[in-house]
Amino acid sequence: MDILIIGGGGREHTLAWKIKQSPLVGKLYCIPGNAGISEIAICKKMDVEGDFEPLAQFVVDNNIDLTLIGPEDPLANGIVDYFEEKKLSIFGPSKAAAEIEGSKVFSKQLMVKYEIPTAKAEIFDDADEAKAYIERVGAPIVVKADGLAKGKGVIPCRELDKALKAVDTIMVEKAFGKAGDRVVIEEFLEGEEASFIAFTDGKTILPMASSQDHKPAYDGDEGPNTGGMGAYSPAPVVTDEVHELIMNQVMEPAVNGMAAEGRLYKGVLYAGLMIADGKPKVVEFNARFGDPETQAVLPRMKSDIVPIIQACIDGNLSEIQMKYTNKPAVCVVMASGGYPVKYEKGKVITGLDEANALKDVTVFHAGTAKDDDNVITNGGRVLGVTALGDDIKGAIDKAYTAVRKISFEKAMYRCDIGHRALNR
Ligand code: AMP
Ligand code: GLY
Repeated sequence: MDILIIGGGGREHTLAWKIKQSPLVGKLYCIPGNAGISEIAICKKMDVEGDFEPLAQFVVDNNIDLTLIGPEDPLANGIVDYFEEKKLSIFGPSKAAAEIEGSKVFSKQLMVKYEIPTAKAEIFDDADEAKAYIERVGAPIVVKADGLAKGKGVIPCRELDKALKAVDTIMVEKAFGKAGDRVVIEEFLEGEEASFIAFTDGKTILPMASSQDHKPAYDGDEGPNTGGMGAYSPAPVVTDEVHELIMNQVMEPAVNGMAAEGRLYKGVLYAGLMIADGKPKVVEFNARFGDPETQAVLPRMKSDIVPIIQACIDGNLSEIQMKYTNKPAVCVVMASGGYPVKYEKGKVITGLDEANALKDVTVFHAGTAKDDDNVITNGGRVLGVTALGDDIKGAIDKAYTAVRKISFEKAMYRCDIGHRALNR
């Protein structure tokens, strides 16, 4: 079968790399893709966020059998509904189901209704009332824009002033547009984060290996939040007991709750969790694979991913089993200097072949492009350098050995990816 992947980041390169290994797959396409993806798939530049007609036409013209969505925006804008109406096979949640990520108000109300453990929260559509509430309960506190904001709409605040300013940024200055018409203001959770990502056909839930992201830009979790500066899998904080609690208290009530709400959830459901004293609480749900978690999880997956995706679409996921290697994986993100704020593009990247030649190392591309014979930087997060190891220390060492073979002007990366797993 011929498959199209929508997206062009590290997550999509990893999906393309994994799908390409399936004996079931013929041609692989990616829109828009990146320099790395273009080595294994036919890439084309097109708008993927709003106008779905040209995408559907591309699928029809090329007889593509299955489309898979990486990022959240096309899902939230209803690409799955659009394709299904045209009888085109697509993997991902419908617009109504993707609201679990697209609206933090909806997601919080779902969690409250189905008794899914999460931070206590209040919802406001008026800035003054939001600020009065913050004054009353005090800091630390977290202010969240309701809608999608390219990962920037969540502002954890240790100080009262910062929280009041966050309300102004979101609701008055409208830094994220209509996404800031409402806010969720919630309790600041302490603990260790983990990402729990599962396939589901709306009934059966098949969890992937656990993982942990590193959101802040700099070592020691300092600096502004980013899309993610690195990841590892498995996350030791997700013990067998915690895994069971997450399945029983989070994943099952969420999937069953969505079905009960008339929003059958098919695709990948991602629970971002805060775990304290062995008890998980949901920080957020995402309607898709994580980035960069996917770069650490999929290299460990021994099963063919294509039948799993097909089973989610067909509704027979209960017949599927999925296997992982015990070897841990570590992904170190190399970013453009200045990310996540201001950075330059177009820097020539060297050392990619040397890094890729190392045993158990794969360099996934994120913001890269081709310029004549060179691969150049083309985004904030540039590469996800991933290694498997016999243990977490081995994986960390190998990933950084590979990172040191790669260079581009003003490259930046965290030097402490995997530190929490190492300290356990
Ligand atoms: P999100 O963009 O929703 O992934 O949130 C970004 C990050 O903000 C999360 O990964 C957490 O580190 C942090 N965060 C979100 N909600 C809370 C909370 N209630 N307490 C503490 N940290 C939070
Ligand atoms: N790594 C966090 C996310 O994918 O949202």
